[in-house]
Order: sequence, then structure tokens, then C-alpha cells
Amino acid sequence: MEKTISHLKAFSRLDDDVMISVNLNEVINNSLLLILEILKSKQIKVTLDLQSSPPVKGRPNRLEQIIINLITNARDAMPAGGTIEVASSTIENLGMPYAAITVKDIGTGISDDIKERIFEPFFTTKDVDEGTGLGLSISYGIVKDHRGDIWFESSTEGTTFHISIPASLEDSI
Ligand SMILES: Nc1ncnc2c1ncn2[C@@H]1O[C@H](COP(=O)(O)OP(=O)(O)OP(=O)(O)O)[C@@H](O)[C@H]1O
Ligand SMILES: [Mg+2]
Repeated sequence: MEKTISHLKAFSRLDDDVMISVNLNEVINNSLLLILEILKSKQIKVTLDLQSSPPVKGRPNRLEQIIINLITNARDAMPAGGTIEVASSTIENLGMPYAAITVKDIGTGISDDIKERIFEPFFTTKDVDEGTGLGLSISYGIVKDHRGDIWFESSTEGTTFHISIPASLEDSI
């Protein structure tokens, strides 16, 4: 509990929001620590498959916000409960290394007619008291701030969100 509270304090503090060398596996673990209680109450299981991933230059609290947003969306897509798989890895694009995260659910999926709109600010399919429609637009902004990418695949079987952030080259030398 103490650990959670001190982490929450750091999470909400903006003054130390600087770019530092970050390991995304730590980001994932810290995010889960913050939302464990939310997930428990809804019969949601989270499985982790954390592979080695290169350090990135980033703002840890903002990166945690992305994971929390994606896991919250995954939970909302599975009203009867289910499993969310969170995985990390190293991927390569045009010869450059990236740290990657995926968040996979087996929920309702995102229908074709709204796929274009989900990253728009205030776009939501949820009730007024359930969502503001800001989660994905904020996540998109944070990913872009890290020169990364965010994309998804979705069908009636569920949805997988992918994030990639370029490896911090200074750290890998
Ligand atoms: N994993 C998912 N499965 C199904 N639909 C999703 C998923 N993630 C996002 N969506 C769709 O995209 C919309 C926008 O998501 P976003 O996170 O931006 O806002 P929100 O979840 O509705 O509200 P907020 O995040 O502000 O609480 C959602 O309302 C939902 O329709
Ligand atoms: Mg959301």
C-alpha cells in the first residue's frame, strides 16, 4: 500500500516529468501496480509476457498513462470479464531497434465504421459517466512525444493495441 501511494504521488507530479532512460518492462509493472484494484473487481485477469526490450528515452509517468489507458479500454471491452495479455519485446523497423508493447483483449472489438475515429479527442462509444473519449487521443500524443507509433488490429474476437518507441541509442552503445 505504501509503495502504491508513493508511486501515485510520483505519477501525479508534473515537475519531474523529464526524459530519462526508461525500461518499458518497469513501466508495465508500475502501471499494473496502480490499477490492480480496478481489475480485481471486474473478473479481469492480466497475463504478462515480458521479453527483453531496449531502454528508451522517455517520461515514465506519461508512458504508464498509456498502459493504464489501454488496459482500461481492454477491460471495458470485456463486460463479462476475460483475460488481457500484456507483452513486451524488441522489434526492428528499417534496421532500427524499437521497444514494443502489445495489449490484447478478447472483447467486443472495434467495428469498421469507427476504426478511423478512435484516436480523435472526445470520440467515445461509452456513456457520459463511463468515458470522456480522451484516453486514446492522449495516448497518441504521448507516443508521438516519444517519436513512437501506436496502431491496432481488431475483429469480433478482440483487439490488440501495439506501441513502439525507438530505442535510446546512447544507452545501447
Ligand atoms: N480495446 C478496445 N476494444 C473495443 N473498443 C475500444 C477499445 N479501445 C478503444 N475502443 C473504442 O475507442 C473509443 C475511444 O477510446 P478512448 O480510450 O479514447 O476513450 P474512452 O475509453 O471512450 O473514454 P476515456 O478513455 O476518456 O475514459 C472507445 O469509446 C471505444 O469505442
Ligand atoms: Mg479509454
